Amino acid sequence: MTHKQTKLQRNILVTSALPYANGPIHLGHLVEYIQTDIWARFQRLRDNNCYYVCADDAHGTPIMLRARQDGITPEELIAATQKEHETDFSDFLIDFDNYYTTHSDENKEFASSIYLKLREAGHIRTQTIKQAYDPEAEMFLPDRFIKGTCPKCGADDQYGDNCEVCGATYDPTELKNPVSAVSGATPIEKDSEQYFFKLSDFSDMLQQWIKAGHVQAEVANKLEEMFEDGLRDWDISRNAPYWGFEIPDAPGKYFYVWMDAPMGYMASFKNLCDKNNNGSDISFDDYWAADSKNELYHFIGKDIARFHTLFWPAVLDGAGYRKPTAIFCHGFLTVNGQKMSKSRGTFIKARTYLEHLNPEYLRYYYTAKLSSGVDDIDLNLEDFMQRVNSDLVGKVVNIASRCAGFITKKFDKQLSTELPEPDLYNEIVAAGEQVAEHFENREYNKAVREIMAQADKANVYIDENKPWVLIKEEGREDEVQKICTQGLNMFRLLMTYLKPILPATAEKSETFLNTELTWANIDQPLLSHQINKFKPLLTRIEKDQIDAITEASTQNMPTTEEKPTENSTTTGPLVDDPIADEISFDDFAKIDLRIAKIIKAEHVEGADKLLQLTLDLDGVTKNVFAGIKSAYNPEDLEGKLTVMVANLAPRKMRFGLSEGMVLAAGPGGKDLFILTPDDGAKPGMKVK
Ligand code: MSP
Ligand code: ZN
Repeated sequence: MTHKQTKLQRNILVTSALPYANGPIHLGHLVEYIQTDIWARFQRLRDNNCYYVCADDAHGTPIMLRARQDGITPEELIAATQKEHETDFSDFLIDFDNYYTTHSDENKEFASSIYLKLREAGHIRTQTIKQAYDPEAEMFLPDRFIKGTCPKCGADDQYGDNCEVCGATYDPTELKNPVSAVSGATPIEKDSEQYFFKLSDFSDMLQQWIKAGHVQAEVANKLEEMFEDGLRDWDISRNAPYWGFEIPDAPGKYFYVWMDAPMGYMASFKNLCDKNNNGSDISFDDYWAADSKNELYHFIGKDIARFHTLFWPAVLDGAGYRKPTAIFCHGFLTVNGQKMSKSRGTFIKARTYLEHLNPEYLRYYYTAKLSSGVDDIDLNLEDFMQRVNSDLVGKVVNIASRCAGFITKKFDKQLSTELPEPDLYNEIVAAGEQVAEHFENREYNKAVREIMAQADKANVYIDENKPWVLIKEEGREDEVQKICTQGLNMFRLLMTYLKPILPATAEKSETFLNTELTWANIDQPLLSHQINKFKPLLTRIEKDQIDAITEASTQNMPTTEEKPTENSTTTGPLVDDPIADEISFDDFAKIDLRIAKIIKAEHVEGADKLLQLTLDLDGVTKNVFAGIKSAYNPEDLEGKLTVMVANLAPRKMRFGLSEGMVLAAGPGGKDLFILTPDDGAKPGMKVK
């Protein structure tokens, strides 16, 4: 990689969160690594200096226990996992400048020195606290490693901090019949002295920092609530046995994994500086000293925002380092509108995907969906296939394949001396500034929309000029050469804009066009230039490739089919029925009611009560079987809005999978009213 020197060059360091070293990379993780990689590649393409570092997060109880279970040392486990992670990332074209581990000498050094600086400045205190202890395994137990009966709903085998059946959260001490997941023994409570970081010392500083716009508005709002409650000091120590770094002057006490994990960003960067293997002299202090003018960004998921927006800036500040320029937080991945699930075959590992599909398809799809906000993004596999096929293959690559043959065969690979439509070319050059702004602001979906609008223009041009017709007419060869030169030059612009997203296709295009795709020289068209033979750039996704991925990802698919559930839709005479058992407010709050647009309503063959509804919740499509056939003709429903329970677990019915319920009321038969909200409602809106 070259880091060119220009006048306005920015110096940027970006990171993605460090994946835990005890599990494989999956498509959820990749939202983040792809998002960050595209941003870093974009910055480099714009001639900025941009380093991208990451590492495996290699410490903590789960890693210690997992290694024990596998009969290997933690060192062996984390080395093997790191290798797998690195291969997965590299195969997804994630271009790190350095990939390291938190279990490194550099990180140990940072953990100690930062801790000592914090202690020196009075930000560390000790306190004796009671914690769950496994007398058999002789270790303190994190909440996750205590199991028992849920105090709220009575479900067995639930974790120490929350119930997966009823969703309640509680303290491990409230759990009934608690057992240690490590040994099966009953945990006891035991006192021990712990080390606390006095987060409360940084309350004012953090509030100012957050107000100054270093985090997204949505995140700032959430944090506001925490400040209102007052910041609690943070327990940064764990008792032996623990897999991590020992705390200086505290034998038998280790740093909690979240203490040294973010320091892994610094350690990985330090390791890069020291390796200095690309010949450029990078100075660690230029990026991390308190007075650094360089930019530092952490890309993270919304589940770990608190660590990066409170603890981490406070630790940096307390130890005399600079704070991040911004924290870029993204939402979670859903697949086909649902949380990733092993039983539905949507918990897809990076490796499984790679065994069937080109990584650039996923890079493109995520880009088309990502915005700068913290909303979840949905990978709808059907839409994924259509979108990639129609945009990348049908629009972009098509331009090159329609023009390349003529230039190669008829004109000895030579482009013409001028463009027939320089204005059209310049329009697409000008659109580049919009595209760049969207990339810069992480409004990737808008960047893609803009690029595809330009691709549409290019296709219209070729369709209107029909080189394949002209070539058959006497004496019009010159025109054909010009039209194809225009087409290939427009293709070159589009591929330049797509280069951060599709680095491999961009590289193939560079070979084909016999030029490097750089943003700096887009205003100079390629004229009187020799290209190379065209080789296919991207092929279509086939349905069976998608099916193969789902199949390979499906585990423990329940074999017992639920009984046909025509009567399970919310119909039937409620008033004549006794009112059902009382539910708590918390139970009610879990129901996610959304406005849905009925985009399709159809009869279901063989069902006398059901209609099959296709519902749109602003981009998420759901299939629902509703027992309202007696009251509605399907054609009367299409285009109408309704209210649906959007987070109901999908049920397998005799006629297919039902992914939610629509709300209807009435005595039954013909008098059954689907709730139709007023005009102000939009699909996807929450019902309040
Ligand atoms: N080890 C911590 C991060 C330490 S950073 C100093 C961790 N690891 S993780 O493996 O659980 O997650 C790594 C990143 O992937 C996090 O930013 C997390 O939000 C993101 N994602 C993990 N699953 C995800 C989805 N399903 N969807 C989107 N991002 C997700 O947290
Ligand atoms: Zn429960």
